[in-house]
Amino acid sequence: MSGTPLTTEKQPEQQAPPQALPVTIAPSLLSCDFARIGEEVAGIEAAGADWLHVDVMDGHFVPNLTIGPPVVKAIHGAARVPLDVHLMISEPVRYAADYARAGAHVLTFHLETTPSPAAVAEAIAAFRETGVPKVGVALNPDTPLDGLEGALGDLDLVLVMSVFPGFGGQSFIADVLPKVRRLRELGYRGHVEMDGGLNAETLPLCAEAGADCLVAGSAIFGAEDRPGTIREFRRLAQAARGA
Ligand code: DX5
Ligand code: ZN
Repeated sequence: MSGTPLTTEKQPEQQAPPQALPVTIAPSLLSCDFARIGEEVAGIEAAGADWLHVDVMDGHFVPNLTIGPPVVKAIHGAARVPLDVHLMISEPVRYAADYARAGAHVLTFHLETTPSPAAVAEAIAAFRETGVPKVGVALNPDTPLDGLEGALGDLDLVLVMSVFPGFGGQSFIADVLPKVRRLRELGYRGHVEMDGGLNAETLPLCAEAGADCLVAGSAIFGAEDRPGTIREFRRLAQAARGA
């Protein structure tokens, strides 16, 4: 064809199908040394983190307490990459604006906190009103996709939890992988994130199923060679997607 340029250069963006979002590696700060958080943020960014995953727990939705908006604001002040804020709290709408103002780039609430599809739509609208750039919804391992299907068109990200939320360092629950595949079968083209128990063995399963955002806490912060681990995770994810 006369209009086709002859080139040997790779043009991945042009060749990639629309659903092939780049792999995003998001280390979870839950496993960092909180006494040295500024250094940990700078170090993990230099090691290759694309996003920083920030786990917010209220001691009610999950049996653990972590950080509030002032600490997220401080992390945002120290960070150069986007903050991926995972709200594991019972009243996400009540606090959404506080976390948006604190510097969240992605703000994700749990589907289990909303009693009906109408409530999901209202919560998404309330999150949008905060002006946060990306809105996500998370699903616990035993929560089916049904309650979310009608809202997929309004979401930037769906977080499929591969552990029950509350603590780092738990074992990956592979039974959730069909939910990730189903999201892609339904034609969902936004971010699909997986969180909990990701390591060199389990992360390729997530990427192969269709996840593009991969959260890892203990496997990255516990590694002696953090840059090497992030590089290896990206390579494994890309290979698993056939990219
Ligand atoms: C669990 C949190 C996860 C956790 C992941 O409640 O949402 O983000 O920090 O930690 P690892 O990767 O150690 O399972
Ligand atoms: Zn998380």
